Amino acid sequence: MSTTAQQCPYFPQGEETEAREQGEEEGAPSLDFERATPYVDYVGVDTLLDLKRPRTDEPAESAFILTTQVMELLFTLVAEHWEAARDALEADDVPGALAWLRRSRNAQDVLTGSWDLLADMTPRQFNRFRDAFGEASGFQSYTYRHLEFLLGNKSGPMVRPHKGMPRVAERLDSVLEHPGLYDAALRLLARRGLPVPGGAVERDWTQPYEEDPGVVEAWARVYADERDDNELLLLAEALMDVAERVTRWRHRHLMAVKRTMGGKPGSGGSNGLTWLARNAEKDVFPELWRLRDTL
Ligand code: HEM
Repeated sequence: MSTTAQQCPYFPQGEETEAREQGEEEGAPSLDFERATPYVDYVGVDTLLDLKRPRTDEPAESAFILTTQVMELLFTLVAEHWEAARDALEADDVPGALAWLRRSRNAQDVLTGSWDLLADMTPRQFNRFRDAFGEASGFQSYTYRHLEFLLGNKSGPMVRPHKGMPRVAERLDSVLEHPGLYDAALRLLARRGLPVPGGAVERDWTQPYEEDPGVVEAWARVYADERDDNELLLLAEALMDVAERVTRWRHRHLMAVKRTMGGKPGSGGSNGLTWLARNAEKDVFPELWRLRDTL
C-alpha cells in the first residue's frame, strides 16, 4: 500500500484539514514548508530516529537501545558541565563553578531517572535480544569513561579499548593527563590557604586519585565556617550533590543488571554483578564522605 500524507500516523486524516484551517487564524504557527521543517533540520530528527535499529522483534529491545542512547547523550552533557566547573575552579571563579554544578545536578537526575525506562524488563525479554548485541557492553562507552576520568578514576588501560578510534583515544588521553573536577577543587582550596597536602595539588594526573587523611583535615576547616556566604562550604556541598548522584546511577544500573540477568557473566567479559558492585561501592570524592565520620 502506498503511503500518502493522509495516512501518515503523525498527521492522521481530518486533523490536517483542521490544522490548515487553524493556520489561517491570526497567531497560529506556519504550516507550509518547501522541504523538511526547520525543526527537523535543527534537531536532526531524521538522523536521530534512524539511529534506533533493533536487531530482533523483541519489543523490549527498542526501549533498551533508546535508553542507552539517551544516557549516552546525557553523559556528554554532564561531561560538559563538569569540565566547565573544573575550568571555573582553576580560574578561581567559585560562583561560576557552582552554577555549572547546579546544572550538572539537574542533568544527573534525568540520567538516573532514565533507568525507569528499563524498570519492567524481564529476564526472558532481555534474553530474547541478548545474543543480538554480542560482545557489546556499556563498559566500552567512551563517554562514560570520560566522566569517570573527570571524577578522578583514572586508568591508562581503560583507554585501550578505544585505540581503534584515534580521535576518541586522544580525547581520553587528554582528560587522563589533566586535573579532574575534584583535583581542581583541592587546588583551589590550597590557593585559599587551606592545608591541602602537596601531593593533591601537583601530581601525576594520569594516576587514579588516592584518598588522603590530610585532605579530610582541609575540608574539616571548610566545614568549621558555617556562614551562609562561605563559598567553599557551598562548593563542598555541591560536590556532594554530584557524588551522591553518580552513586545513585551506579546503584540503579546494578539493580537493572541483577533484575534482568542475575549473576551471569557480562557481555563485556566481566563476571557481571560482582565487578559492578565493587565499582558502585567506591565513594566519589572520598574525603567529603570520610569527614562525616567526625562532624
Ligand atoms: C538491563 C540492562 C543492562 C544490563 C543487563 C547491563 C549489564 C552490564 C554488565 C554485566 C556490565 C559489566 C561489564 C560487562 O561485562 O559487560 C555493564 C557495564 C556497564 N554498563 Fe550496563 N547493562 C545494562 C544497561 C546499561 C545501560 C542502559 C547503560 C547506559 C549507557 C549501561 C552502561 C554501562 C556502563 C557505563 C558500564 C561500565 C561501568 C563501569 O565501568 O563501572 N548499561 N553493564
